Amino acid sequence: MAAAALLLLAAAAAAVVVAMALRWLLLLGGPAAGRLGKRARMPPGSTGLPLIGETLRLISAYKTPNPEPFIDERVARHGGVFTTHVFGERTVFSADPAFNRLLLAAEGRAVHSSYPSSIATLLGARSLLLTRGAAHKRLHSLTLTRLGRPASPPLLAHIDRLVLATMRQWEPAATVRLMDEAKKITFNLTVKQLVSIEPGPWTESLRREYVKLIDGFFSIPFPLANLLPFTTYGQALKVINETLRVGNIISGVFRRANTDIHYKDYTIPKGCKIFASFRAVHLNNEHYENARTFNPWRWQINNKLQNAVGANIFTPFGGGPRLCPGYELARVVVSIFLHHLVTRFSWEETEEDRLVFFPTTRTLKGYPINLRLLSESIC
Ligand code: HEM
Repeated sequence: MAAAALLLLAAAAAAVVVAMALRWLLLLGGPAAGRLGKRARMPPGSTGLPLIGETLRLISAYKTPNPEPFIDERVARHGGVFTTHVFGERTVFSADPAFNRLLLAAEGRAVHSSYPSSIATLLGARSLLLTRGAAHKRLHSLTLTRLGRPASPPLLAHIDRLVLATMRQWEPAATVRLMDEAKKITFNLTVKQLVSIEPGPWTESLRREYVKLIDGFFSIPFPLANLLPFTTYGQALKVINETLRVGNIISGVFRRANTDIHYKDYTIPKGCKIFASFRAVHLNNEHYENARTFNPWRWQINNKLQNAVGANIFTPFGGGPRLCPGYELARVVVSIFLHHLVTRFSWEETEEDRLVFFPTTRTLKGYPINLRLLSESIC
């Protein structure tokens, strides 16, 4: 009896494995795979190992300071739009700026934003990133109204006060984790802008909860190029644009097709997951000279980087209906933060640190530094 039960179990297990393998072969099979007609075909690519796909390869690449080979190899083999299988799902990956633009603009129509369930659970169904349709439109424009005009003199003065107040808390010769401090400022400012509450014990306890929940999500802020080009802040903005290009915290956005999408010779079927990679575009030599070299001066000249063509390629804050509402605020805060940091302090790294890109873009240790005040005090 026991032997029969074992045989039955083994047969059932074998049937499951065969079914999974068949499904896998179908996934690989392009047009034969499903609802697509004979002539329509998915972008080329590889779905990797059964079940895990190419997830482990992607994660191990993104845990290094140089994740580019993962994308480079596939773009070289298949072109700018290719198919992979990551995080349990067949996913079309786009390193093509024109397709990325289409996807951003088509939000709410041909595609909708679709983030991994871990992010959805953390943020909650009512967060702006996850709402859709009319509710999203209303909430987005409301948020933009609150966050969108940081260049006004009162707000600039407020940001300035907030940055200096944070720096005054740094003990002389103490070690600080620069990333944590930058996040603290962004958080306090966002709370102030959204619900008009000044930093204090309540915001601090809220921030601790927030850090626990979303480690590194929407963290380091940034620039405001066109308005202040000749000021110290304006100078800082170049640095900042280049940081957003080379080391942006958001490497791209997830979408899901609401309908079959035809692009070039391919058809991406309804329901398919799509990842529009900004990073792959920003680090492509076709779009930027020596794209993998950090060179803030490339932003100095009003050349093609600044015109409409350049704007289509440079999308660190996304675009279309989900354009980041914090895009100006982030730029201004980081300009002011960097300005005060470099004019008032010198520092040295206390431990060697490095950038990683999984699960988020960040320095592994929060960039711990030993600070020295350049003048007697921070006024
Ligand atoms: C360097 C800093 C930042 C970067 C690179 C960034 C980037 C982005 C990107 C790419 C999106 C689009 C997501 C998508 O299309 O699915 C986005 C959305 C969003 N960002 Fe930012 N962001 C930054 C800072 C901020 C700040 C400081 C705030 C708030 C004060 C903020 C609030 C939001 C919100 C609420 C959304 C959701 C918008 C929507 O779905 O309608 N971001 N951000």
